[in-house]
Amino acid sequence: MLATMGALGLAPSAEAATRGAPYRAPRPGDFHLTGRAAAKVVVLGGGIAGLTTAYELGKAGYDCTVLEARDRPGGRNFTVRGGDTTTDLYGNRQTARFSDGQYMNAGPARIAQWMVTLDYCRELGVPIEVFTNVNADTYLYNESAGMTEPMRYRSAKADVLGYVSELLAKATDQGALDKDLTAADQEKLVEFLKDYGALGNTLDYSGGSRRGYSAWPGAAGTPGVVAGDVPTASEIFATGVGRYFAFEFEFDQAMLMFQPVGGMDRIPHALAAAVGTRRVRTGCAVTKVTDTAHGVTVTYTQGGRTRTVDADFCVAAMPPNILAKVPHNLGAGVQSALEAITPSSAGKIGLEYASRWWETDHRIYGGITETDLDVTHIWHPSYGFHGRRGLLIGYYNTGSKADSYAALSPKAREARAVAAGVKIYGEKYRTELATSFSHHWRQFPYQEAAWHSTPGGPDAARYQPLNEPTGHVYFAGDWLSYMDAWQHGAFTSARKAVTALHRRVLA
Ligand code: PHE
Repeated sequence: MLATMGALGLAPSAEAATRGAPYRAPRPGDFHLTGRAAAKVVVLGGGIAGLTTAYELGKAGYDCTVLEARDRPGGRNFTVRGGDTTTDLYGNRQTARFSDGQYMNAGPARIAQWMVTLDYCRELGVPIEVFTNVNADTYLYNESAGMTEPMRYRSAKADVLGYVSELLAKATDQGALDKDLTAADQEKLVEFLKDYGALGNTLDYSGGSRRGYSAWPGAAGTPGVVAGDVPTASEIFATGVGRYFAFEFEFDQAMLMFQPVGGMDRIPHALAAAVGTRRVRTGCAVTKVTDTAHGVTVTYTQGGRTRTVDADFCVAAMPPNILAKVPHNLGAGVQSALEAITPSSAGKIGLEYASRWWETDHRIYGGITETDLDVTHIWHPSYGFHGRRGLLIGYYNTGSKADSYAALSPKAREARAVAAGVKIYGEKYRTELATSFSHHWRQFPYQEAAWHSTPGGPDAARYQPLNEPTGHVYFAGDWLSYMDAWQHGAFTSARKAVTALHRRVLA
C-alpha cells in the first residue's frame, strides 16, 4: 500500500525528502479499492490559498465550502476598477472612479516565469501578458543624495558600471590582483571589463551612446547627439543610483515577468468559478473554530446572523494575524505560533491620467521609476499602451512610509504623492491627473497586513503546530511558505495541505 501511495506521490520517499516531490492533484480514481470516500472540508478564507485548497480537493470530489469574510474572493489579490468601494479601519470610504479598462492591482501585480502561479493561469485559461519590471528608460531619483533632477536608468547604469569597470581594470593593470589571478586570467578580465563598461584603450570610461542621446540618431546626415555631461566617478557614486541595479538579479524579480490580461483578480475569479460559486460563501466572517472528536465545527456570521458549519476537516487559510483573534480549541502551541508571525505594511495609490504623457513626452512604456522619496516606487502601466488614458501606481511603499500615507485622508495621500511625482516628471504629473484611489493593507479589515514576517522561517520548531494538522484542522497560506508575499507561496502551501489531507483520508 505504501509503495502504491508512493507511486501516486502520496507517501514520502527519499527523493521527496531531498528534492520535494512533484505535486500530484487528488483524483476521483484515488479512492478505488480503498473503501474510503472524499470528505467534507470547510476552508477558512477565500484568498489564493483557500481557493486553491477547494479547487484541488474538488478535483477528487471533496465537498468543500469556502468561508470568505469580504464580499469578493481573492483576499489580497485585489484588482480595483471603477465602482469598487472600500472602507479602511480609520473609516475612510473610497469609491474608485477609474474609467473603463483602467485598473490597479492593489495586491500582487507581477509573476516570475518559474512560479506555480503561471501553471494555474495555464490550467484555468487566464491569459497573460508581459509585466515590465525593469526598463532602461524609467528614472532613478535620490533626492537625499543631492540629485536635482532624475537620471534615466540607462545613463545611471552606463556611468556606474563604466566607472566600476574602469577602476577594476586599472587596479588589475597596476598589479593589485597579481596574487589572485594569473596574467592570462587578468588579460581576460580586462577584456571583459572593457566591453562591460565601454572603456577606451586607456581603460578610461568617458560616456558614450549607452547613456542615451540628447538628439536621437536618424536618417543620413542626422547622427544624433550623444548625451553629454558625463558625471565624474565621485559624482555618480555620490548619487547612490547604483543601489537599484541588483533588483533585477533577484530570483523572484528578474525579467521576464508576467501579469494576467485585465487584472490580477482574473486568477481568483477563475478559481472561484472552477470551485463553483455556491461553494464560495462571501460575507462570512469566521468567529470560532472547534475541533471535535470526529471533525470540526466552524461558527461564522453572515449578514448579522450567526451560523455554523460542520465538516470532517478544516483548512484554515486566513491571515495568521486575523486567525489569532478567532477563539478556538486548537491549543496554546497553535496560538503562540500564530502570534509569532508579525504583519507588515504596504500601500499603493493608483493615479489615473487623462493622457499617457509618460509615453508621448518621456518615451516610457512600462517599468518602474525608483526613488528615495516616501513614494518609493512609481509604476508605469504594462497594459493599454497608446490608449487614451492610463494609470500609474504613484506609490508602492512599505513599513513606516506606507503607514504615514495611511494616516492621511485619501485626498491628502493623493496630494503628497503628486507633489513627489512632480519633482521627477514635471507639472503634467499634476495637471493631467483625473482621479485616484489608494489602498493600505495594514489598515484594511480582515487583512491587516500586506504580508507577514515568520521569524526563523516557516520550518522553525515553533510553527510545527501549523505545519502539521492540529486535530482535524490544517493550515495554509503564503505565510507558511518560503515565498511569503507571493501567490506562489499561497499556491504551494495549499498544495501541501491538500496532499497531507488527502493522504490521511486515503489511509
Ligand atoms: N511580491 C511583492 C512584490 O513583488 C513583495 C515583495 C517585494 C516580495 C520584494 C519580495 C521582494 O512587490
